[in-house]
Amino acid sequence: MSLILQTVKEYLQKFDRASDRSITRMLMRDKPLLFYNFETTRRYVRKMRKELKIESKPENIPEGVLNDFRTIEINGNYRTLILSDIHIPYHNKKALELAVNFNKKYDIIILNGDIMDCYSISKYEVDPEKRFLKDELITTRKFLSYLREKFKKSLIIFKFGNHEERYQKFLYYKAPELVGINEIYLENLLNLEKLGIEVYKNKQPIKLNHLYILHGHEYYGSSNLVSPARGIFLKTKANTVIGHFHVSSNYQEASINGKFTTCWSVGCLSDLHPQYMPLNRWNLGFATVETYKDEFNFNNYKIIGDKVFNT
Ligand SMILES: [Fe+2]
Repeated sequence: MSLILQTVKEYLQKFDRASDRSITRMLMRDKPLLFYNFETTRRYVRKMRKELKIESKPENIPEGVLNDFRTIEINGNYRTLILSDIHIPYHNKKALELAVNFNKKYDIIILNGDIMDCYSISKYEVDPEKRFLKDELITTRKFLSYLREKFKKSLIIFKFGNHEERYQKFLYYKAPELVGINEIYLENLLNLEKLGIEVYKNKQPIKLNHLYILHGHEYYGSSNLVSPARGIFLKTKANTVIGHFHVSSNYQEASINGKFTTCWSVGCLSDLHPQYMPLNRWNLGFATVETYKDEFNFNNYKIIGDKVFNT
């Protein structure tokens, strides 16, 4: 038997579940000097398969391309501050100061999305005289440095919201050639690694003991809700806090076994009357949560004037 047929025989016996086409490809890949023409190689494979009486069996189901989606779990007894919808550079400085200085010590600070506005790269109508992305980046970096300086030992987490996602979408549509260059990704432009700030992107939920933390844009079809807290309850059916809606709301239901599930939406820390929607029903706010082994104590705060109220 020639070397060619001997090699084909070996491959057919070794990969007995592979199709003629797959064996042909493997031979051409592994032995390019012997097998350099696809059709000729496939003829050898067919011929040898007949001689050996090896039936072609279906290949395994090919691997699927799956999104690396998982919930980030944090377990333990922690004091946590949740800030969302700051929309730098359209932030409300006074409200932000009140929220950040509400307590001196936190183990964890969660920046729960829309921390940066990314106005200039919005797909919506953009006023060309408004600030440039560069200025937004500089102001956001200043805020993050301030936060790190203030809470030197806290775990700071930055979960991207729909406004941070504007940057990724901008790259995809306007500069796809730059995708894959790490240096230009938003987390690197904001120096998050240097500041010791963890970043969670791609709509990944955070679970703090028994409380899910979402920005609020993770589900489709949840805009303009009368009660965002009830809206998110109907989706998650679990204790959940969201931002995104710029409105403080609380919702609780008891099940037949007497167990309570509670959801909250947290107010924003941005301009309440932005140019694109000066009239709305937003309010300023932030939240804190203390977690214990099997329970947690959640406080949803509203800021009215220069005072903080528990809702
Ligand atoms: Fe927002």
